[in-house]
Amino acid sequence: MSTNNILEVENVSIAFGGLKAVNGASLTVERGTITSVIGPNGAGKTTLFNLVSGSLTADSGSIKLDGTSIEKLKPHQIAHLGLIRTFQGAKIIKRLSVLENIVLAGQNNPGEKLWRIMTPKVRRDYEEAAKEKAYGLLKEVGLESLSDSFAGILSGGQRKLLDLSRCLMADPKIMLLDEPFAGVNPALVERLLTVLNTIRAKHSLSFLLVEHDLETVMNISDKVVVMAQGQVIASGLPGSIYDNDVVVDAYLGSRKRNS
Ligand SMILES: Nc1ncnc2c1ncn2[C@@H]1O[C@H](COP(=O)(O)OP(=O)(O)O)[C@@H](O)[C@H]1O
Ligand SMILES: [Mg+2]
Repeated sequence: MSTNNILEVENVSIAFGGLKAVNGASLTVERGTITSVIGPNGAGKTTLFNLVSGSLTADSGSIKLDGTSIEKLKPHQIAHLGLIRTFQGAKIIKRLSVLENIVLAGQNNPGEKLWRIMTPKVRRDYEEAAKEKAYGLLKEVGLESLSDSFAGILSGGQRKLLDLSRCLMADPKIMLLDEPFAGVNPALVERLLTVLNTIRAKHSLSFLLVEHDLETVMNISDKVVVMAQGQVIASGLPGSIYDNDVVVDAYLGSRKRNS
């Protein structure tokens, strides 16, 4: 496989009892691109995400992050290698400021032990640098005017932006987003899309998304992967998906006929 892939999932399977939730699925994410996984409910999309991020361990198959095998690693180890999963019910601390929420996310960076043995001066310098970095990230997502506000006042969409900037504190290589646009009003979807593209360019980031809204998927994705019943049944450029008979039968059929 090409080394230009940040993520390579090969022939991955997991069964729950007798049910093969993911059944020999393969996909790749090219560096700096957005790949979206679509498919009907129960297709195995979230399970695949859980396998990639390490919250589940595959029965078989291999997963490589930037060339490193991660299929046996724990979530924190995978995160440390640069794969961050976000939008899992954004755990913000409401009574801290927006900026403090982001700074906190970065505090694990030097490692707990190192943090404890830092001299006050080193610690202050570190905190100062973290604040500066956090503020820069807030600017990138367009929340800088709220940096001193309590995080509790943020709207749902603003929390997603906050969560994005929090993830960026860890300098990820690839972000996994499970239904990032669910329940977000259309105006904010536009804004989120713009922000995703901005941070992708700025940080040479790659994204793997699971998304239901087809129009959004077609707009934003460099590549679309279609899953059904635990398997990848098609993948390619967004436009090619609409012309694929297998996909139309399995998933798009009713929608396409109705439009
Ligand atoms: N922890 C689990 N235990 C048993 N079955 C599960 C578990 N997680 C998911 N499943 C089943 O695996 C299949 C795929 O689920 P999921 O990955 O959530 O699909 P999707 O995200 O595409 O809707 C479904 O049939 C679901 O019921
Ligand atoms: Mg799901």
